[in-house]
Amino acid sequence: MCGIAGYVGPRNAKTVVLEGLKRLEYRGYDSAGIAFLDQHDLLHIARVKGRLHNLTDRFRNDLDSAPAAIGHTRWATHGVPCEKNAHPHRSADGEIAVVHNGIVENYQELRSQLQGNGYVFASDTDTEVIAHLIHYNWKSRKTSDLVDAVRATLRKLKGSSAIVVLSTLRPDTLIAARLGNAGGVVIGYGENEMYVASDIPAILKHTCRVAFLENGELAVVTPSGAAYSDSSGTPIIKHPVKIEWDAAAAEKGSFAHYMLKEIFEQEQSLTDTLRGRIDISRNQVRLDMLNMTDSVARRLSGVTIVACGSSYYAGLLGKQLIERLTGLHVEVDFGSEFRYRHPVLDENRLVLAITQSGETTDTLAALEEARERKAFTASIVSVVGSQAARVSDGVIYMQVGPEIGVATTKAFTASLVDLYLLAVFLGTARGTLDTNRRAELIRNIATLPRLVGKTLESMQHSGVIEAVASKYTDRANFLYLGRGLHYPIALEGALKLKEISYIHAEGYPAGEMKHGPIALIDERMPTVVIAPKDSLHEKMVSQIEQVKARNGAVIALATQDDTETAHKVDDVVWLLNAPEMLTPILAAIPLQLLAYEIAVRRGTDIDHPRNLAKSVTVE
Ligand code: F6R
Repeated sequence: MCGIAGYVGPRNAKTVVLEGLKRLEYRGYDSAGIAFLDQHDLLHIARVKGRLHNLTDRFRNDLDSAPAAIGHTRWATHGVPCEKNAHPHRSADGEIAVVHNGIVENYQELRSQLQGNGYVFASDTDTEVIAHLIHYNWKSRKTSDLVDAVRATLRKLKGSSAIVVLSTLRPDTLIAARLGNAGGVVIGYGENEMYVASDIPAILKHTCRVAFLENGELAVVTPSGAAYSDSSGTPIIKHPVKIEWDAAAAEKGSFAHYMLKEIFEQEQSLTDTLRGRIDISRNQVRLDMLNMTDSVARRLSGVTIVACGSSYYAGLLGKQLIERLTGLHVEVDFGSEFRYRHPVLDENRLVLAITQSGETTDTLAALEEARERKAFTASIVSVVGSQAARVSDGVIYMQVGPEIGVATTKAFTASLVDLYLLAVFLGTARGTLDTNRRAELIRNIATLPRLVGKTLESMQHSGVIEAVASKYTDRANFLYLGRGLHYPIALEGALKLKEISYIHAEGYPAGEMKHGPIALIDERMPTVVIAPKDSLHEKMVSQIEQVKARNGAVIALATQDDTETAHKVDDVVWLLNAPEMLTPILAAIPLQLLAYEIAVRRGTDIDHPRNLAKSVTVE
């Protein structure tokens, strides 16, 4: 969704903010803009449609320093992408500039009221009402306090919004506020300089000391620090926390794309995910921040997983792992469906959100619903300090550092590992896993990072993915089939391909193929079949036969040395022989690479796929 960056301090704020926006490009956007105060405290705004370089080019030879600036990358919700709709928006007198992430649900009503008071609108956005309303509140209250005017404005807004305000009325100051769940607001602490951003990577190069705004909070940010207050204006004390992310992790290095870098990082990222969680000598899984005692775990009547997109698919695998190891019934729901279907919940239910960003509006809303119903809430989250982590009773961090590629890869596999650990943890606490089985599961997961490393090495050296990608790049449709533990991986494989290559792809439970999708099979339709040598192998082979009988091309993911399966298919990608519950994680890797290599051949913008955003903070 929209990205926000702001700076006050001695350096050139324009440069700092434009650099911050560059690091937010992964969020996806269709226009960008910046507002800054010059040395005479005059407010200037520059906005462009399209890519960020259209904006940075304008400042290439601009050496005039600016003490304060706010910038924005827009992902259109109200009003088409064009210069006039790009942020920042300003008040009619030009003295107040606002950047905004979220949706003002009652903007039509506010717009009409403001128009009745003589305000003229220059854009089609909901954001512009915020700028005019701040101005109106400032004027009509005859208050010299801009902060009061911002607070009064927030009280009028319906929906979820994060805003940052820059004004000539209070130079050297940024006013940031958060209403509801529309994305985070991070306040970064420097030495006599301060930062504001929607996401940590925008400021990570400068500082790892940050504070987060909660729903209803407002921050007045000056070079010497930030003063926080709640919606009624009561001061709040907030101390910055240290983010353990490495700034280099947010750089692309020698890789052509962030996505490729993140795929190849997975041996390390999964090593990090497991760090501090498993103790082989004590036969233990430790999830300290989950805050769940054995007695709470024993009382559980069931688990509900809520998530969106790839995280939802991770949840579908999590369901199978948890059910196998704990005997608990697990249901999985989309965040966007959960709260509208009157879910049955009680205090003995674990509601588990899976959200890499920790800011997905639909998932947060589901968590809120669960909290109101007094369920035990937990989140599997990547971004430390994100909203999901803060509002849940417990959290399991993915421990993979920033993921910049819009199409998730390393966060997806990390969430699968966290779900595996959770299943073992719950099974242990509930007494459904005996000591030997637990020891076996813990030993197995410890081997996973190396297996992932070997998988990546073999993909790289064999060139098999490149060859398959070249053969099928021109196809319009793909089918992905998996069964049991591999059905969610088939869904994820198809989603990866859709997202970055724009090829239509469907993931299906293999056994369901004959109930409909088989009608699509012909010589132009490749089918990717996940068919490792496991308990369902024979069933998968029969699906392969059915596709071949209709002249469809089959690309199989098969266990190394399974020549029998290899002979039946057109292309084979070998999977390492691994314990059954780890194979789905290994199978995800070649599917990530296949989507990547096809997208490269189709020349798409892999790190910024059209219409997509890294965190979806609107409903
Ligand atoms: C796909 C992808 C998305 C996200 C979804 C949920 O590659 O990344 O489908 O999984 O938008 O995002 P989070 O996990 O941040 O809640």
